[in-house]
Amino acid sequence: MKPRFLPLIALALCLVVPGQRKESDVTLYSRIGGYDVIAAITDGYLKGVRGDPSFARFAGRGTDSLKRARQFLKDQLCAMTGGSCVYVGRDMKTVRGGLGITEAEWAASMKHMSAALEAVPIKSKERAEFLAMVDALKGDFVE
Ligand code: HEM
Repeated sequence: MKPRFLPLIALALCLVVPGQRKESDVTLYSRIGGYDVIAAITDGYLKGVRGDPSFARFAGRGTDSLKRARQFLKDQLCAMTGGSCVYVGRDMKTVRGGLGITEAEWAASMKHMSAALEAVPIKSKERAEFLAMVDALKGDFVE
């Protein structure tokens, strides 16, 4: 074989033989199963907080506002986990302004997020990663 063909063969091999993908290269979004799973987590979480009397002081919004917040939460979780969604809602510091969210309310919210994650068929590694990702937002919420 003529040596001048070698670069061409190397290029062809690169294109045909896919590189081994490390698990860490795959987004959390893909690893948990994508948008439907994000939607199920969102609904589980919102069902939990909206049914919890300790969150009663945050209630009292109309159906359309609740639907809007649900869509924003789905988009945000989708974007945060590496999905191809774009979050166009307000940033969390702006949203929490004046709400005076306490440590105890944050802990209760995390409990509902954890329960929502337990209810979907994802591995414990991804569950822990998801919870840590949400808990990292704490500083934007708790005053
Ligand atoms: C103690 C926990 C939490 C409380 C009390 C809380 C409370 C609220 C309230 C009252 C609103 C409506 C604000 C308004 O319409 O003016 C809201 C909106 C929202 N929250 Fe939370 N939240 C909590 C945790 C979270 C978490 C953990 C996330 C995300 C991971 C989140 C994401 C959002 C989003 C995306 C919106 C809609 C933003 C927008 O309207 O532009 N919240 N939250």
